[in-house]
Amino acid sequence: MEILDNILDTLGNTPLVRLRRFSPTGAPIAAKIETFNPGSSVKDRIGLALIEAGERSGQLKPGGTIVEPTSGNTGLGLAMAAILKGYKLICTAADKIPKEKVALLKAFGVEVVLCPTNVPADDPRSYYKVAERIRDEQGAYLPYQYYNQANPEAHYRSTGSEIWRQTDGTLTHWVAGIGTGGTISGAAKYLKERNPRVKVVAVDTVGSVYAYYKEYGALPPPERIHQYLIDGIGEDFLPETVWWDYIDEVVTVDDKSAYRATLQLARQEGIFCGSSAGAAAEAARRIAQGLPDDALVVTLFPDSGERYLSKLNEEWLQEHGLLDEETGKQIPRGR
Ligand SMILES: Cc1ncc(COP(=O)(O)O)c(C=O)c1O
Repeated sequence: MEILDNILDTLGNTPLVRLRRFSPTGAPIAAKIETFNPGSSVKDRIGLALIEAGERSGQLKPGGTIVEPTSGNTGLGLAMAAILKGYKLICTAADKIPKEKVALLKAFGVEVVLCPTNVPADDPRSYYKVAERIRDEQGAYLPYQYYNQANPEAHYRSTGSEIWRQTDGTLTHWVAGIGTGGTISGAAKYLKERNPRVKVVAVDTVGSVYAYYKEYGALPPPERIHQYLIDGIGEDFLPETVWWDYIDEVVTVDDKSAYRATLQLARQEGIFCGSSAGAAAEAARRIAQGLPDDALVVTLFPDSGERYLSKLNEEWLQEHGLLDEETGKQIPRGR
């Protein structure tokens, strides 16, 4: 019989798919499609790992409460593991997150606390600080994916080893978005331990701090840190889950290029992902253009476009100046 014990047993071993039409010239690109995970995102990989880290450290007791600041995907990863292990979960989130993500968390019985987006991370109203307050008031376990080494370590064990096995160790470049940095860092360590020549490129947004930090070793001046429209990557502070020693380069992708690539992936490859996948794909394509045929660029698509349908539609894209000649005319008018 092929009956799995519970839904978490379907975690990982997501497929690696060639992007022949999206990037027809230059080195081949393969994308790891993380929507095949049980909660449809890459963050399922860290949900269980973060909870087990709390159990090991004694911060999480049987029947206890977990609180985490999350844009949604980590919340869902945590939710599935919390449900199966009998914990209560509270998620704090910035109020810019798509309403679908809030609805999704609530469907899993998660308590969601929305906090203002336009305040600095150290402001008491920020979703980070609100999570800390709930931890202190309720004696909850705060996994803190931005500081918990169980986050990159989960990607070392799963994402990195899967990519190595699926490519028979032949990849030459690992290109992935950087949010907490867990995905890129953990997988990079695994891959570079197997082959130190694998080049690791993190994909950042315009308005975030990482690219500037990689170049100058300091945070950018405040006027260079600003809001952007890509979901899930880029930060306005430096998390401790970025393992800088394994990251060779940080490139930035602007909002328009990321959304354009997101729509191209849907129309040319039949792969509908969120905008962080569009950013990763765009960066991977630029890198692949300058490489010989025998190189192999591996990237990763963190989640599904279905999670952002209130943004990935003509009205919203138009309103934010994200449509151009090519992508605009292909979106059928809704009315
Ligand atoms: C949609 C999406 N893409 C990419 C990322 C970045 O992954 P990481 O936090 O491992 O750097 C995240 C993280 O929150 C995300 O939600």
